[in-house]
Amino acid sequence: MPFDIARTRAAYPALTEGFVHLDGAGGTQTATGVIDAITAAMRTAVGNRSAANVPGRRSLELVAEARSAVADLLGADPSGVVLGPSATALTYTLARTLGATWRPGDEVVVSRLDHDSNVRPWVQAAEAAGATVRWAEVDRHTGELPAAQYADLVGERTRLVAVTAGSNAIGTMPDVPAIAKTAHAVGALVYVDGVHSVPHGPTDLTSLGADVLVTSAYKWSGPHLAAMVADPARWEALHPAKLVPSSDAVPDRFEYGTPSFPLLAGVTAAVDHLAGLDPDAVGDRRARLRAGLAAAQAHEEALLDRLLAGLAERPAITVYGAPVRRCPTVSFRVAGMSPAATHEALGAAGFCLSVGDYYAYEYFRLMGLRDSGGAVRASIYHYNTADEVDRLLGELDALIDGAGRMAG
Ligand SMILES: Cc1ncc(COP(=O)(O)O)c(C=O)c1O
Repeated sequence: MPFDIARTRAAYPALTEGFVHLDGAGGTQTATGVIDAITAAMRTAVGNRSAANVPGRRSLELVAEARSAVADLLGADPSGVVLGPSATALTYTLARTLGATWRPGDEVVVSRLDHDSNVRPWVQAAEAAGATVRWAEVDRHTGELPAAQYADLVGERTRLVAVTAGSNAIGTMPDVPAIAKTAHAVGALVYVDGVHSVPHGPTDLTSLGADVLVTSAYKWSGPHLAAMVADPARWEALHPAKLVPSSDAVPDRFEYGTPSFPLLAGVTAAVDHLAGLDPDAVGDRRARLRAGLAAAQAHEEALLDRLLAGLAERPAITVYGAPVRRCPTVSFRVAGMSPAATHEALGAAGFCLSVGDYYAYEYFRLMGLRDSGGAVRASIYHYNTADEVDRLLGELDALIDGAGRMAG
């Protein structure tokens, strides 16, 4: 059955404002079920976690339900789901924890494709430990992160390989299972940034080869919260800095302070929303998630093909990278216009995109684009339509005409 786009869009109240949201990579709009769940949690009594009274038990349940929902989303064990405010904060927590076990001469491998949140925490932890940082390089023309290079990058002293499952700048989906295989052969831990990839298709922690994977709920219709998941046995072996009286249980020992209980209700509701994307799907939530995200992926891929074909027809537009496997995310520039000017003109016409380096700092430095304003990013989510893609292309034509007239 074709993806029911009208039904999908109806689940997002913000879409009635009429903007064209092509910035899923920066954060998606919030689904009704999420808003309702957060509101409902705020309308009932919620207390500090305690089995002794109803408000305390509610908080315990909200945490447990969010862990279980994220576990279903990623094919993980709920006891291995660490919840936190953002992917960046969670990655720093783990980097500091692991870094404290590294010694001079140890090595970590990061990539120039990654968002800086999966680069800098590791680089800084390595510096603090006297460990060496090795860099996986991006092919400047294709935008690929070749997996073969990891055979040379990892060795006996490699402690960690950090890699993205999907670039938030140009969409590239590296061959993470192959990279993980190489890393595991030397006993290195594989930390995967799933922030950009998870909303765009089914994810399975084990088949990805990730020892730890991080994802942010605001990229998949939920609130601004994140989760970092691993086998609970892995968490048991690690001891982050923590307050003396706070729980030392796994996974709680990695979570700082009192969580936002109502927002956790929103995380659960966002997962339920994804599980409902294919109304014909049957089975448990994990099965329905797989079906719903596969349906959304097919819809998004058709829109991506349409966008890429349209951009390729316009010689005034330069698109960066042409990876074979990619998330529906494209960075481009319009000839004769700065990315900021393009972004602003599109914004004035009601199109919400991103501009700059979107923290894909190393990639834009590598490409020599960072100091001149980066690029403009269009990123597709399951509520986007073919009409929106066509309207963006039409608006770009108007900008190209205008830039041509200015130059002439
Ligand atoms: C690929 C990728 N990784 C990590 C992050 C950081 O996520 P957070 O904002 O949850 O720290 C982002 C945010 O845009 C991202 O796109």
